[in-house]
Amino acid sequence: MKLWAGRFQKEIDQKTNDFNSSISFDSRMYREDIEGSIAHATMLGASGILPKDEADRICAGLEEIRSDIDSGKLSIDPNAEDIHTFIEGELTARLGDSGKRLHTARSRNDQVALDIRLYLKKECAALTGQLRELIAVLCRKALLHKGDVMPGYTHLQRAQPITFGHHLLAYAEMLLRDVGRLEDAAKRMDSMPLGSCALAGTTYPLDRELTAKLLGFSAVTQNSLDGVADRDFCVELACAISLAMVHLSRFSEEIILWCSWEFKFIELDDAFSTGSSIMPQKKNPDIAELVRGKSGRVFGDLMTLLTVLKGLPLAYNKDMQEDKEAIFDAVDTLKMCLTAFIPMIDTMKVLPENMRHAAAKGFINATDCADYLVDAKGLPFRDAYKITGTLVARCIEKGLTLETLPLSEYQEICPAFDEGVYDAISLDRCVNNRKVLGGPAPENVEAQAGRILSLLK
Ligand code: ARG
Repeated sequence: MKLWAGRFQKEIDQKTNDFNSSISFDSRMYREDIEGSIAHATMLGASGILPKDEADRICAGLEEIRSDIDSGKLSIDPNAEDIHTFIEGELTARLGDSGKRLHTARSRNDQVALDIRLYLKKECAALTGQLRELIAVLCRKALLHKGDVMPGYTHLQRAQPITFGHHLLAYAEMLLRDVGRLEDAAKRMDSMPLGSCALAGTTYPLDRELTAKLLGFSAVTQNSLDGVADRDFCVELACAISLAMVHLSRFSEEIILWCSWEFKFIELDDAFSTGSSIMPQKKNPDIAELVRGKSGRVFGDLMTLLTVLKGLPLAYNKDMQEDKEAIFDAVDTLKMCLTAFIPMIDTMKVLPENMRHAAAKGFINATDCADYLVDAKGLPFRDAYKITGTLVARCIEKGLTLETLPLSEYQEICPAFDEGVYDAISLDRCVNNRKVLGGPAPENVEAQAGRILSLLK
């Protein structure tokens, strides 16, 4: 029987009931729904809207329902319209009239607006916890590889030498901002909407501040229409999650490249790789590919939320039921991705010799060669740049590198060169000297990793 049976002459069509129902995806909020109802009933009792002993009975009944669902003694009815209806119905079945009094001065509209905030606040904390864990793993790895030279790339062309530690810390910085964005989104969720009721508040003298306090909110929504009608906090969270997925996806792309025989900078642990059903030699980075692929569905979730909201007149519209699957999917996806991604990074084997080998071949010290002419020989940078370009062309022509080109060839192009050039273009020197704030030198990696690890504390 529906809540609105008094007004209606017929039961809802069965297939339409399935279409209308949200129980298959909102039942995951049963604990938040019960927590919210307990706070509401407590406040009704404290404000004298319900007798104190009746409020206590309601709270005890709700607690019993919670532990019965937790233990599996009570299963959630898949035919109920939503989790709110189910729990209220169950309470009424257990307590009779007291159960029917719970919904005094409340609507499912403010109830769902509360539940989803409570639920997502917790999820934000879980996600930031996982991100922090990944950042810590990156810092530890960066410290292990602070002096391992690798090519830095632009356009996927070898550009200038960096250290592997520095490369990993670039992701640590991005993920730190993701943590900040999730924390910001959680702040904007931290406003308690109960008391907005259906849309227009209520004539009952509710103590909304008390409800907020009981539920751990630091604020109360200030406009009843806004309290039930907006889901901007879901959009904001989906946006923060999308950016985290962008970062994980780019990182995954690099993992995939680094695992290839063309690079071979790393090898993934067997526990985080897969084989092929036909090619016996294959070891595939499926986890990284899935993370890269799953970013697409999260961006889809963000688009869903934006599109669902954009044309809705105030206040509640049933369209808003569509918020949950989208934001839950975004949260679940990031969580699952991180669950696999963190140990995959933690256990990957780094192959520094291959990185150095790649760094030694692509003229990535050409800028340093030009800098040498500026620094040691006083040439203007533009001239030094041009001379070095000519040297690179000469090397390519002869199948040599800047390290192996004889000094006589250097001097033929610019007589200012002397033996010192070989020292100036040695990879270790190139990297060790890049110690400008934010640069890749080992001492910077050490300082940055230390700074980030202390931020995480
Ligand atoms: N299942 C609904 C949702 O998720 C709960 C609110 C229903 N309110 C209503 N007036 N139909 O949005």
